[in-house]
Amino acid sequence: MKDAVEGWIEGHFAQEDESLRAIRREMTEGGYPEIQLPPITARTLQLLLRLVGARRVLEVGTLAGYSALWIVRALPPGGTLTTVERSPERAAKARQLLAEAGVGDRVEVVEGEAAAVLAGIAGGGPFDALFLDADKEGLPGYLDQAARILAPGGLLLVDNALWKGRVLDPEARDEATEAVRAMARKIAADPGWDGSILPTGDGLLVALRRGPEGD
Ligand code: DHB
Ligand code: MG
Repeated sequence: MKDAVEGWIEGHFAQEDESLRAIRREMTEGGYPEIQLPPITARTLQLLLRLVGARRVLEVGTLAGYSALWIVRALPPGGTLTTVERSPERAAKARQLLAEAGVGDRVEVVEGEAAAVLAGIAGGGPFDALFLDADKEGLPGYLDQAARILAPGGLLLVDNALWKGRVLDPEARDEATEAVRAMARKIAADPGWDGSILPTGDGLLVALRRGPEGD
């Protein structure tokens, strides 16, 4: 049922154009894991970025640049995306594909480990929105950095918040699943975040950073 519903919505609102199809093709041909954002999630991400008027976005986990192309298309003129990828080969491939898609001048692909790159970013809102879509084991650390980096009103988005349903499976005790669960607990319990999970795709955690007065 969920697949049929999502397919119907995707048919109306989240169809890929030739540039997105080209990235998907290159991923298949290059033997990339098929873990790019589902179009319906990417479309939701676009709308959320537009709703908060995001101009500067940071993505963690570039892969081949598929979600980056969706994201940069949601930004106003002059808006920019910085996206972090730990694999040098994937970073280079993403740069090539994003240039071919005509957005190379608006996306900076930073090669490096997410934890180190995030630690090097100043606090207080250099980015309006942060999208986490890298390894799940690192999530607790990335979340601490997100709380530091985003100013009040800043938007946090995290893919795989349901982790293919494993968060609900009491038998699943692996580190990745525990990290995804810990993220939901943290966002729910911390008054510094105002969040929830959209069950679209593999689950999209959406949270606004709150100010000291709860604003
Ligand atoms: C997997 C899926 C993802 O969307 C991701 O970001 C990482 C891993 C997976 O299916 O393993
Ligand atoms: Mg993902």
